[in-house]
Amino acid sequence: MSLILGIESSCDETAAALVTSGREVRAHRIARQEEAHRPYGGVVPEIAARAHVEVLAPLVEGVLADAGVTLADVDAIAATAGPGLIGGVMVGLVTGKALALAANKPLIAVNHLEGHALSPRLTDPDLDFPYLLLLVSGGHCQLLLVQGAGKYRRLATTIDDAAGEAFDKTAKLLGLGFPGGPAVEEAAKRGDAKAVSLPRPLLGSAEPHFSFAGLKSAVARAANDHRPEDLAASFQQAVVDCLVDRTQKAISAVDATALVVAGGVAANSAVRTALRQLAKANGLRFVAPPLWLCTDNAAMIAWAGAERFAAGLTDPLDFPARPRWPLDPDAEKVRGAGVKA
Ligand code: KG4
Ligand code: ZN
Repeated sequence: MSLILGIESSCDETAAALVTSGREVRAHRIARQEEAHRPYGGVVPEIAARAHVEVLAPLVEGVLADAGVTLADVDAIAATAGPGLIGGVMVGLVTGKALALAANKPLIAVNHLEGHALSPRLTDPDLDFPYLLLLVSGGHCQLLLVQGAGKYRRLATTIDDAAGEAFDKTAKLLGLGFPGGPAVEEAAKRGDAKAVSLPRPLLGSAEPHFSFAGLKSAVARAANDHRPEDLAASFQQAVVDCLVDRTQKAISAVDATALVVAGGVAANSAVRTALRQLAKANGLRFVAPPLWLCTDNAAMIAWAGAERFAAGLTDPLDFPARPRWPLDPDAEKVRGAGVKA
């Protein structure tokens, strides 16, 4: 049984956790920066990086104390090395390297997306590879066939905005505040999802990808003529319809026994409910991590570290911080990613 220290700092959450290869979360702490970014209505990279510098070392001290262990008891140190806001990634990665060097422990450079992708296996010991994953976060919207630690086949991605990004922009447009996803979900509970007619970009399309930019523009055009609650509910339903349609297409294209959803938007109950029904209709198991494990945290980084450590994957101390880092480097580029249609 190994004990892994995980560090996460790729966006606006600073987090540290201690997780065992036996799926026990021995300690985890998260410091959120919402208050610091709220006046700007979005994450300000420079403010985020400075906040990570201030809180990360005490957080690591804190989780070690919570678990009643010292660095000497840890078997490896896993730190997010990308993708994300590069200033923040550097703070976490260099902290991980310094601890690895000081304690003479192996470093594991974790792809933040792999943290999300493997997170469902932390709480579900029965979830075996391969599984179909819908990864929906603030920066990404992808369908992946997860074949093992470090082994991913990307089936689809967004050609413009990520799903979480669409939630955040919609919240801003509707004056619902920051962070946007939970605010839209809350407002949607008091609204009518049929009140506003909104587009479902790429619904039924032969290409496997996602698109949300047109939906966001449609919300902007309708913003003055409808109640924010009705717009929120109609928007959320449109996102759900797109996610379900695209995921059904992927289910038909691959051989998997489970449908898994992960990432911040997986915390949305309308999204979870619709995907659970979709899985059932296709005779698939449905797995979604508990809410605390959906949004950014360090337990998922420690767990991805544990999976990589078990596979013998460790990294040198000169591993670079990467603002962009695809899980499937062989995936075809899509329009929107610098490629014209
Ligand atoms: O995975 P995550 O914490 O960070 C990234 O790696 O991006 O995802 C954050 C995203 C944000 O866009 C946030 O608005 C969205 O997840 N989100 C939600 C909900 N909770 C968080 N979106 C919809 N409904 C929610 N309840
Ligand atoms: Zn994330």
